[in-house]
Amino acid sequence: MLIPLILSGGAGTRLWPVSRQGHPKPFMQLTDGQSLLLKTYLRAAAVAQGGQILTATNRDYFFMSKDELTKARVGDVECRNTFLLEPFGRNTAAAIIMSAFMVAEQFDRDACLLVLPADHLVQRQEAFAEAVQNAEILARQGRLVTFGIVPSMPETGFGYIEAGPNIPPGRSVLRFVEKPDVETAQKYVSSGNFYWNSGMFCFLAGTVLNEFALHAPDIFQTAQACWQELRHTTKADANMLEIPAKHFEQFPDISVDYALLERSANIAVLPADIGWSDIGSWSAVSQLIKADADNNRGIGECLFVDSHNIFAQSEERLIATVGVDDLIIVDTADALLIVPPDKAQDVKKVVTLLKKQN
Ligand code: GDD
Ligand code: MG
Repeated sequence: MLIPLILSGGAGTRLWPVSRQGHPKPFMQLTDGQSLLLKTYLRAAAVAQGGQILTATNRDYFFMSKDELTKARVGDVECRNTFLLEPFGRNTAAAIIMSAFMVAEQFDRDACLLVLPADHLVQRQEAFAEAVQNAEILARQGRLVTFGIVPSMPETGFGYIEAGPNIPPGRSVLRFVEKPDVETAQKYVSSGNFYWNSGMFCFLAGTVLNEFALHAPDIFQTAQACWQELRHTTKADANMLEIPAKHFEQFPDISVDYALLERSANIAVLPADIGWSDIGSWSAVSQLIKADADNNRGIGECLFVDSHNIFAQSEERLIATVGVDDLIIVDTADALLIVPPDKAQDVKKVVTLLKKQN
């Protein structure tokens, strides 16, 4: 049994003003009209074994997620989707360990969990399916399997995986470093021995629970208490499990990368050439659009006069630029963003500032 676990409870602050607390990145529609969440669901349904998918998300996103999933035409793959709903965000360690408890107790400790973040793109479906098959082989040997992407620049928003000796069909991992500073990232990229962590993982429910118990016992105990409470209040065959706040609030706000992957000695990496892109910033979004002769790209109604290197996205109004270069412009009904491409990562500072003001 292989159960995809879709993670879609984060806020995605670097894509403000389109990605917001109330409408985060997984719900953003790309130019083909599909949201990242729907694309992730279709990807998941194609590799699920046993007809079960799990979505862990914030309870505020339940109805939006359900709406997205009903847009899926999964052909002959009929998957049951169970929601695990968090009362508030406590990051990915909490979401993953709660899902692992649920799968271990309601399905099987030996069920393979395939963790799929709903905030990035995978463009080569067949290569993805093959990578999942190989990852499952390593997961069944008791490893925490990461999917490694060959790095193209010293990106500081990703985890880095130092690969060790071969353990076919993948490689062992010497160390995992989450979000290094730019000098360290530069060293890693030039060494040629590091991969980016794609954020997708594959492991048996039992393996990840044992690893949490070993390396993050506080998180394990919180999850155990939280699961006991949830089990008493939910039917075993429910399609929606709402996690009560009482124990959940004891979870530290920490990602699985810091809580487990940086600490475990039991990681494998599966190098995966699957057309992965993170879409982590407006610069990355702009790369998905074809440029005109002056390297301008527009989504919605846009007009470029004597302008170069502009990315503009309009929801309602026409955007016109005259005689300007090197800008990202994103216009929504109630907010307008203007930022040069080399500062695209700093857009999250707007969200931090807005939160302080409110
Ligand atoms: N259910 C749930 N609950 N999901 C969450 C939560 C939460 O509290 N917080 C984040 N997520 C979801 C996000 O929606 C996203 O799909 C995924 O988990 C990853 O979270 P991010 O917050 O986007 O992580 P990141 O991008 O900073 O870093 C991760 O991804 C990188 C690649 O994109 C790490 O795994 C890095 O190591 C990796 O390189
Ligand atoms: Mg992300």
